[in-house]
Amino acid sequence: MAGNNASIFLSVLLLLTATSFRSSLAEYGGIAADGVGATEDLLIRQVVDGGEEGVLDENSLLNADHHFAIFKRRFNKAYRTQEEHDYRFSVFRANLHRARRHQKLDPSAVHGVTQFSDLTPREFRSQLLGVNRRYRLPSDAHKAEILPTNDLPTNFDWRDHGAVVPVKNQGSCGSCWSFSTTGALEGANFLATGKLESLSEQQLVDCDHECDPEEKDSCDSGCNGGLMNSAFEYTLKAGGLMREKDYPYTGTDRGACKFDKTKIAAKVANFSVVSLDEDQIAANLVKHGPLAVAINAVYMQTYMKGVSCPYICSKQLDHGVLLVGYGASGYAPIRMKEKQYWIIKNSWGENWGENGYYKICRGRNICGVDSMVSSVAAVKY
Ligand SMILES: *[C@@H]1O[C@H](CO)[C@@H](O)[C@H](O)[C@H]1NC(C)=O
Repeated sequence: MAGNNASIFLSVLLLLTATSFRSSLAEYGGIAADGVGATEDLLIRQVVDGGEEGVLDENSLLNADHHFAIFKRRFNKAYRTQEEHDYRFSVFRANLHRARRHQKLDPSAVHGVTQFSDLTPREFRSQLLGVNRRYRLPSDAHKAEILPTNDLPTNFDWRDHGAVVPVKNQGSCGSCWSFSTTGALEGANFLATGKLESLSEQQLVDCDHECDPEEKDSCDSGCNGGLMNSAFEYTLKAGGLMREKDYPYTGTDRGACKFDKTKIAAKVANFSVVSLDEDQIAANLVKHGPLAVAINAVYMQTYMKGVSCPYICSKQLDHGVLLVGYGASGYAPIRMKEKQYWIIKNSWGENWGENGYYKICRGRNICGVDSMVSSVAAVKY
């Protein structure tokens, strides 16, 4: 898309004039490091509280073994052999460098040690992400109607209105798409019925193998990825989703489908794709409940808190999450103005990010967050 290329180009320009980096930028937008010289870091450095666990400071890279010891204790990490331990330590060290790099590219967030700091970027993608690369829409998808945007609230958060269940944890299974789907239907079901029910991801993992008829290799496939729109299509056809407690999450996709039609707790009335316009996204969010969105998650491996607003980020979508609200904060290092952000519910437990949530800045389709947004309506019954 021309618009995306233009904004990536602009980001690169900003990056080149503001600073330069020794490391490869390839993973942040498909741009090679060639031409980015190794000069000193001119970027305004964010001062972070060095006393806080996991937050990095100037000395962190020298104290990698100390940080690794804290990391193992904090996240209960045990490695079977000394070789495994040493290998994980080398990955951890590389991730400390990555976190520092992310900090420079994304100064309004805090990046550091997370529970994923002993995973390589490839392991992280295969174990925690999982949005299929298929954009053709299922036959039952609508286009969301264009809504008025003139009197939207300045701040909005569906958690304040009782439409969001507590943060869940997908474990080491690329089933993010199923959590994004249940989150949207939990909200829609609350709006339709007044009842907040936690719904079953495992039903989607085990039973939803919805395919694009022309691309059989990109069906919804449990821990190997899927798409929220096809999961809405499955849910519409199957009749609905069961409760979490009636069909609990196991985090594996080796089980048979145990869907029981008599225990349906929420039904899809219809689902719609929202246009790539941030005001329309906000209006649909406020009117129809939390929205299923996809995002590029490269910064999320090291994210700890704050508003993530990287100068450069790929728009290649690889993670399914739930948009629950938006707000604004005072922090903006370059232009001194309020930074507007989306509030994103993730599915990596409450120990990740801000109690399981991610804030990403709003305004220029950062990391593709506006590119694949869907709203679902539940049957009132
Ligand atoms: C979707 O379902 C809701 C609730 O039943 C209904 O109000 C709305 O008109 C439907 N939208 C479309 C596009 O059919």
